[in-house]
Amino acid sequence: MRVVTIIPTYNEIESLQQTITRLRSSVPESDILVIDDNSPDGTGELAATLAASDSRIHTIHRQGKEGLGAAYLAGFRWAEDAGYDVMVEMDADGSHQPEQLPQLLEAVEAGVDLAIGSRWVPGGRVVNWPLPRKLLSRAGCMYSKLVLRTSVRDMTGGFRAFRRQTLAMLDLSAVESVGYCFQVDLAWKVSQLGLRITEVPITFVEREYGNSKMSGRIIVESMLRITQWGLVTHGKLLRRLLRGPDRRVKR
Ligand code: GDD
Ligand code: MN
Repeated sequence: MRVVTIIPTYNEIESLQQTITRLRSSVPESDILVIDDNSPDGTGELAATLAASDSRIHTIHRQGKEGLGAAYLAGFRWAEDAGYDVMVEMDADGSHQPEQLPQLLEAVEAGVDLAIGSRWVPGGRVVNWPLPRKLLSRAGCMYSKLVLRTSVRDMTGGFRAFRRQTLAMLDLSAVESVGYCFQVDLAWKVSQLGLRITEVPITFVEREYGNSKMSGRIIVESMLRITQWGLVTHGKLLRRLLRGPDRRVKR
């Protein structure tokens, strides 16, 4: 299987090189695509330098900070055109450990349509997260689980491996999520298609350098969109219930 690991970056100059080195040694068969949103700290230039000396590292340089969702959509389009079989999502800051990627890839090789590296299944862990951030993530995952009625425990997790066909079945041009709810959006779409999702326990390690790009805006967007998806789904369910039993089934 041809694998590409897509790494979105915004101001990750202190982390990117080490993340790529670790990825290279733990999953040498994976190509790498860095998508930088014109980081002021020079991450884009660093990615270009790394790509110049390694033909299996590719880069997309975008005009400005347009959000995690937009960056991944550009990456998926590129990877589909390039004919990869598996598209991996991974953060640049070392929180997702490349050493755990083989477990995600094994799941996809075994036939799963989407493997999610999960912090909130038995065996999954978070290291060094301050309590408020832990609570925020827990709350976000529990809210998505409740409103969307999915069995996935880590809907917001961003360490994933998609089978090519899974992405092909999604209408990516209709994805509007900008921030981190992009992750919930995609997992939700995959589960609605009835495809197979597996959660692989991972240890998420809080970054050592730089800052998180999580913001109030990202939280508000997530709340609004998840609520809206839930209402649309439950609205359909409610209308069906109000209409009463389906006559065609009775006959
Ligand atoms: N190109 C680009 N554009 N990259 C971005 C942008 C953007 O607008 N925003 C964030 N990134 C990159 C970061 O540089 C990093 O590589 C990765 O996306 C994750 O960003 P962080 O800011 O480190 O996220 P986090 O640690 O707070 O969030 C974690 O939790 C989120 C919610 O659970 C990660 O696990 C995310 O993947 C997850 O969605
Ligand atoms: Mn991070």
